[in-house]
Amino acid sequence: MGGLTHLIVFISMFAATTLISEAQYILPIFKHEPSKQFYTLIYIGSAATSSPVNLLLDLGTNITWLNCRDIKSLSSLRLVTCESSTCKSISGNGCDGKICLYREPSPFLLTNHTVTKTDRVVQDKATLFSTESGIPPSLVSFRPFTFSCAVQKNLQGLAPPISGVIGLSSAELPFWRQVTSAFNVIPKFALCLPSSSVGTFYMGATSSFNTPLFGGNNPIPMTMTPLKIESGKYLISVTSIYVDGIPLALNPSLLKGGAKLSAVVPYTVLQTDIYNALAQSFTLNATKIGMSETTGHAPFKHCFEEGASGKTMDVSVMEIALPGNGKEVKWRFQGANMVERVSETVICLAFVDGGNKPTESMVIGTHQLQDYLIQFDFSTGRLAFSDPLLLHNTSCST
Ligand SMILES: *[C@@H]1O[C@H](CO)[C@@H](O)[C@H](O)[C@H]1NC(C)=O
Ligand SMILES: *[C@@H]1O[C@H](CO)[C@@H](O)[C@H](O)[C@H]1NC(C)=O
Ligand SMILES: *[C@@H]1O[C@H](CO)[C@@H](O)[C@H](O)[C@H]1NC(C)=O
Ligand SMILES: *[C@@H]1O[C@H](CO)[C@@H](O)[C@H](O)[C@H]1NC(C)=O
Repeated sequence: MGGLTHLIVFISMFAATTLISEAQYILPIFKHEPSKQFYTLIYIGSAATSSPVNLLLDLGTNITWLNCRDIKSLSSLRLVTCESSTCKSISGNGCDGKICLYREPSPFLLTNHTVTKTDRVVQDKATLFSTESGIPPSLVSFRPFTFSCAVQKNLQGLAPPISGVIGLSSAELPFWRQVTSAFNVIPKFALCLPSSSVGTFYMGATSSFNTPLFGGNNPIPMTMTPLKIESGKYLISVTSIYVDGIPLALNPSLLKGGAKLSAVVPYTVLQTDIYNALAQSFTLNATKIGMSETTGHAPFKHCFEEGASGKTMDVSVMEIALPGNGKEVKWRFQGANMVERVSETVICLAFVDGGNKPTESMVIGTHQLQDYLIQFDFSTGRLAFSDPLLLHNTSCST
């Protein structure tokens, strides 16, 4: 439980930042190594002196849910009644007598969407960090925070120290929407997923990205593309995929559904034809720079002996082309986002073959999202992503 040490590092980093003029709500992001997923922490219930609750980040979850039994601070918990407007606003709501229930697929059963979990909807106070006018973060609370208490059997898939999932979808009651509406700030949130140490989850104002981390007065460029929302999923429209500047020859129908963004899937999953085309170009380049192909290493199919010197930074660059403001824009993935090291000398193409007919032909996973600032702006319906931070000699790690 390195959570608290991490937290102190996180707070002291903000103490050194430049002038901030608008309120911004922030939370630390920790990497959960065994699962390659990420979690944050908030305080729920009485006093901020109690232990924080660690919650997995999920862009597809509508309502935050957690293992209420293990959380001692939930002393002022209230059940939401079936008749309330809160209950009625929940897509997939249900009732158990007077008590509001909600049902949604477990985010862990990525291949089996038929398994749903049913939990009681409850409310309590939530406490998080706020920064404003250049002062270090302070704790602020709001009430009611609506979430749900998971039934014990639905907790499978949650490994300690994580005790629930924080809902970040675009539905009625995801965490970010409750925060931005409680404090009456612009409906935006941004994630900076770290490759090591602690990253940051931002809600509300974005002017304070003007910090040393993001280039200070010389901020790191951000690129925008329309954010599409379908049944609570976040999608971007991919028009083509380039590897080392050359477009992959793909049947355009494969890209029609766009790419889904996921904070739960560890490595980007591609439909077989897309995967094969990427792997072929990648392999060609890797061989040319002196790597030799070796046996796959599950879940990866293409792995390489690196040879004498570390070549991770020289591997193929993949760019996905997206609609911008009247022109094509590109999201660049390179180096550490392209490969995963599986041993001292072997690296693998960090993408997974999702089969011939997956639900989505492209799901962008956390390994590819690390060390970018990614902002979901509901005031404009746009997704903004930064240049690779590593290209600017910085990262999401504080
Ligand atoms: C999904 O899970 C349900 C319940 O555990 C099971 O009955 C069903 O066969 C599973 N479906 C698939 C495709 O695995
Ligand atoms: C989440 O909410 C959206 C509507 O906001 C709905 O379309 C979607 O089905 C919901 N997802 C689940 C899993 O209930
Ligand atoms: C391999 O990819 C890198 C990154 O795009 C590029 O600079 C280099 O020219 C490519 N090398 C070869 C031999 O294709
Ligand atoms: C990053 O660091 C490298 C090596 O120190 C340097 O060559 C490069 O100019 C730096 N890039 C930026 C954007 O500061």
